[in-house]
Amino acid sequence: MTRAQRKKEHIKLALSTGQNRATGFDDIAFVHQSLPNIALEEINLQTKIGELSLSSPIFINAMTGGGGTATESINRDLAIIANETGLAIAVGSQMSAIKDPAEKESYRIVRRENPNGVVFGNIGSEATIAQAEEAISMIDANALQIHLNVIQELTMPEGDRDFRDAFERIQMITESVSVPVIVKETGFGMSAEAVKLLSQVNLGAIDIGGFGGTNFAKIENKRRSRMLSYFDNWGIPTAASIVEAKSVAPHTPIVASGGIQNSLDIIKSFALGAAGAGMAGYVLKCLQKDGLEKTIHEVKEIHEDLKYLLCALGKKSLQEMGNVPMVLSGELYHWLHVRGLN
Ligand code: FNR
Repeated sequence: MTRAQRKKEHIKLALSTGQNRATGFDDIAFVHQSLPNIALEEINLQTKIGELSLSSPIFINAMTGGGGTATESINRDLAIIANETGLAIAVGSQMSAIKDPAEKESYRIVRRENPNGVVFGNIGSEATIAQAEEAISMIDANALQIHLNVIQELTMPEGDRDFRDAFERIQMITESVSVPVIVKETGFGMSAEAVKLLSQVNLGAIDIGGFGGTNFAKIENKRRSRMLSYFDNWGIPTAASIVEAKSVAPHTPIVASGGIQNSLDIIKSFALGAAGAGMAGYVLKCLQKDGLEKTIHEVKEIHEDLKYLLCALGKKSLQEMGNVPMVLSGELYHWLHVRGLN
């Protein structure tokens, strides 16, 4: 199977494989406050992820590019959404365009449709410094994501089987490139152990890419005859992973992603200590189901809803969410208890 065919299959299967809300966010309840002492007009959604200043706390996480006109048209629509609503946006892995220059256009369109927005490049942890630099210059990226996807690779019949020295390459790339580096998981979450190691590097942010949303083990298992079904429920739920990460890296910006679907998921991420929230599969599904205009409208509604939620909690910005009273229950409580994190 060609890379282009694989990309098309990933999109098709990501759309048809449901997000099962195993993120842990539903195990969090805010404690209602009757005297919030705030006016809605005082609230703003300006956000900072490290040195990146953003007008929205939300970004569109890495999905696609390469593989022909289908991915180019998705990237065009995602870039229009980002441009119209002020979201930052990551392109999908640029490794294919680094290997085949004919594929560059499907990534560059994101910068063309969104000339003044914040755009993240994306490469795998197998990349060299030169490839990292090429990915940045290809789209004039404001930051570079390096993705970690061990479980997807293992589940993919044609995937990588050698994961040695990834940390050393991340370290070298981060020290060499001119933009902040964001190391991200791809739906299996990051543990305190992994984040502790990564926090030795001067990263722009760590995106914990938690379990509970798009599930690449299930997606890859649908593509193969001998299924590695033991990976289908493998991963650290997003809410638990944010807490794992914050416990060992209080000074590295932690970004939440994995199964984020609405304003409540986003505000809960900030309450656990996140500095930003990424959405991938949910935006793709909205785009496919409702079209471009309705997806733009939905993002604007999420922004409005975030303001209502902040108002109810008496907070003028998401940065003030760090000490909001909340009650944790169920599997999230259990996870954090067993890991000594509550
Ligand atoms: C992805 N994701 C991804 N991540 C990455 O770093 N590079 C990539 O090329 C891709 N490709 C990709 C394709 C498709 C179709 C989807 C849906 C996702 C992973 C993505 O950025 C994110 O980490 C996970 O999807 C979990 O977030 P959601 O989808 O649950 O919000």
